[in-house]
Amino acid sequence: MVKKTKKPIYPFEDWTIRETEFSIETNYRNETIFAQANGYMGMRGNFEEGYSGPDGTSLKGTYINGFYEIHDIIYPEGGYGFAKTGQTMLNVADSKIIELYVGEEKFDLLKGKIHFYERVLDMKKGCVERKIKWESPSGKIVNVKIKRIVSLQRQHLAVISFSVEPINFTGNIKFVSAIDGDVRNITESEDVRVGSNLKGRVLETVERGANDFEGWISQKTQKSNLSYTCAMKNELIGTEKYEVLNNVKEDRVEVAVAFKAEKNRVYILNKFISYYTSKDCDKSETMKLALEEVRRAQEDGFCKIEKEQEEFLQSFWEDADVVIEGDKALQQGIRFNMFHLLQSVGRDGKTNIAAKGLTGEGYEGHYFWDSDIYILPFFLYTKPEIAKALIMYRYNLLDAARNRAKELGHKGALYPWRTIDGPECSAYFPAGTAQYHINADIVYALKRYVEATNDLDFLYDYGCEIVFETARFWEDLGAYIPLKGNKFCINTVTGPDEYTALVDNNAYTNYMAKMNLEYAYDIANKMKKEVPEKYQKVASKLNLKDEEIASWKRAADNMYLPYSEELDIIPQDDSFLYKERITVDEIPEDQFPLLLHWHYLNIYRYQICKQPDVLLLMFLQREKFTIEQLKKNFDYYEPITTHDSSLSPAIFSILANEIGYTDKAYKYFMMTARMDLDDYNDNVKDGIHAAAMAGSWSAVVNGFGGMRVYTDELHFTPRLPEGWKMLSFNVKYKGRKINVKLTHEESVFTLLEGEPIEIFYFDRRVLIKSGENILKGYEEK
Ligand code: BGC
Repeated sequence: MVKKTKKPIYPFEDWTIRETEFSIETNYRNETIFAQANGYMGMRGNFEEGYSGPDGTSLKGTYINGFYEIHDIIYPEGGYGFAKTGQTMLNVADSKIIELYVGEEKFDLLKGKIHFYERVLDMKKGCVERKIKWESPSGKIVNVKIKRIVSLQRQHLAVISFSVEPINFTGNIKFVSAIDGDVRNITESEDVRVGSNLKGRVLETVERGANDFEGWISQKTQKSNLSYTCAMKNELIGTEKYEVLNNVKEDRVEVAVAFKAEKNRVYILNKFISYYTSKDCDKSETMKLALEEVRRAQEDGFCKIEKEQEEFLQSFWEDADVVIEGDKALQQGIRFNMFHLLQSVGRDGKTNIAAKGLTGEGYEGHYFWDSDIYILPFFLYTKPEIAKALIMYRYNLLDAARNRAKELGHKGALYPWRTIDGPECSAYFPAGTAQYHINADIVYALKRYVEATNDLDFLYDYGCEIVFETARFWEDLGAYIPLKGNKFCINTVTGPDEYTALVDNNAYTNYMAKMNLEYAYDIANKMKKEVPEKYQKVASKLNLKDEEIASWKRAADNMYLPYSEELDIIPQDDSFLYKERITVDEIPEDQFPLLLHWHYLNIYRYQICKQPDVLLLMFLQREKFTIEQLKKNFDYYEPITTHDSSLSPAIFSILANEIGYTDKAYKYFMMTARMDLDDYNDNVKDGIHAAAMAGSWSAVVNGFGGMRVYTDELHFTPRLPEGWKMLSFNVKYKGRKINVKLTHEESVFTLLEGEPIEIFYFDRRVLIKSGENILKGYEEK
């Protein structure tokens, strides 16, 4: 079933998202849409001047990627090996605050009268600008313009430029620029997609101060032993005559600037903000570094930072932009998605990309397999250095993964289903730890990275350890089962579909584990031959023996790969086909998402899926299956897939495209491309859906662009939708940058960087030489 598409919320514009009126009803949602981040920190689109709307219509949020508090996970009935300690990304001090007083009256959109309101996110400039013409209750009119930038170039920096112009009066104006440390996370225990279980205030203020135009506040967590400083520096432009007053409270520091403003003159308060945490430097240094950062920024000036931001984005779009001519809604949707992915991704090898980016508190700021399977490809083929950082993050977690495997009585390493810093944080093991496939997902991402970049140094110096330790884990987890013909079976696992849990021989898991084991075997042999010293080093570190490596091959060769002869499909697992089948059409619409309306036992009892499992496997290992197999499996699984996970529609779109289900391909793509912009699931207020956003890129490039990457080969079988005039995107692959431009008449592959390279166009091998290569159907011109 394909659900209906939603009505668009914002006008269709190529590079901008525009909100043309302010309303309490949409405020919460728009705080996510206009959230800004730079991979290190994120700020929701909260108003600088404050918001006096009713409870539940706003979430004040500022987040630092990977900065968290720990808490005990309380189980009424615990069990051995259950995850004990949760981690929650913290809402940190709010530094966005700039209150404006016109005489005695406070600028507040819920008071007085709004003559004009507009907020625009400009994705080329990386800036959100709000313009308001406001009349105070007593009749004073001001033009207000506020620009905010969270700097992509200087990741510890954000800047706000707040300008005011009296329109019908001359009189006193005051700005109060503040950092407020009295912050907490939202508490939500019923729906994990909303918030965390962390109760009350967590951060304790240990230092605060203000001096002239500067202010700072340092806070520490109670249990995770982390601390940070937030510093600000303000400057006033427009008059030399002003008064500065500092106000330092327990958890709040304020810099107030008062002056007499003349009618029709513009006055600007620029605010430079910085955050440094004890994860970035010694904890005694955070204040010094944060203050240095804001001072430097102020010296450089707002304009320079604005320009840098635009330059950064220019380079990003040069690599990553996708152009769709003929559908403005999709053009906007896909750019919005890519922009948010860039905003959300940790680029330092120590952080990753949270399920909701840095825009909200849903899923507690945790990183999932979303990063490795859904998000990584976007960066891999556009900004491979970011993909490398994401895998480096996984490498840095290896010790924690080793400990977890040990705790569960296994050899090797078991990566956490969800975490920030390494330990397993999933409190519900059937849809957490049991998703062992995370191990193979990480290896799959690494393998793709190595294939696409030839970065063998990374593989030999770091990646191989991940591959060996996970292979070791699989070999230990599975067993040769006599009644299954002595095949290597992996029992009691959960595959990607979370509506089926704790099953034997989940097809996805077995195929992916096989890939993991084979890759480990191949790399070990390759290293022995090509880099014997490096091999020796890692072998002695891991105590690797030849017999063990041979055992990986044996397990891979004998892996049990489920297949149903009766139905000629791949069963999701051993028991799936023996359950009652219920199609999505048979379930009343108000029951979705099922996870909020049915007990898991009922969900597990049916053949009903949250998201693709077998079909995802077929996409990831596409070369292993024929198109007929793909179609049969698609026809079988589509009617029973609810798409209750936002990760779902993109994969359906890609595969529908290949099978020739053009309408479905398009509808599924619409569900994913504008999922957050159209608030498809009515929950964008809780944060973006990062994996779905990346899925929409894949749906364009792998779906309509028909790109497949088989081992060491790039294939294209484009299928341009009828309504599109042109689709263009770039692919970085093995040191090349290729622009692919597709129209209904021809396909043009332009080699922008690197040496000529052979690709497959439809099934034909073609050499892409420098400059433009024009291909028509099967024919080269
Ligand atoms: C999905 C998972 C996903 C998680 C975080 C869940 O709803 O079923 O596959 O990892 O959301 O995005």
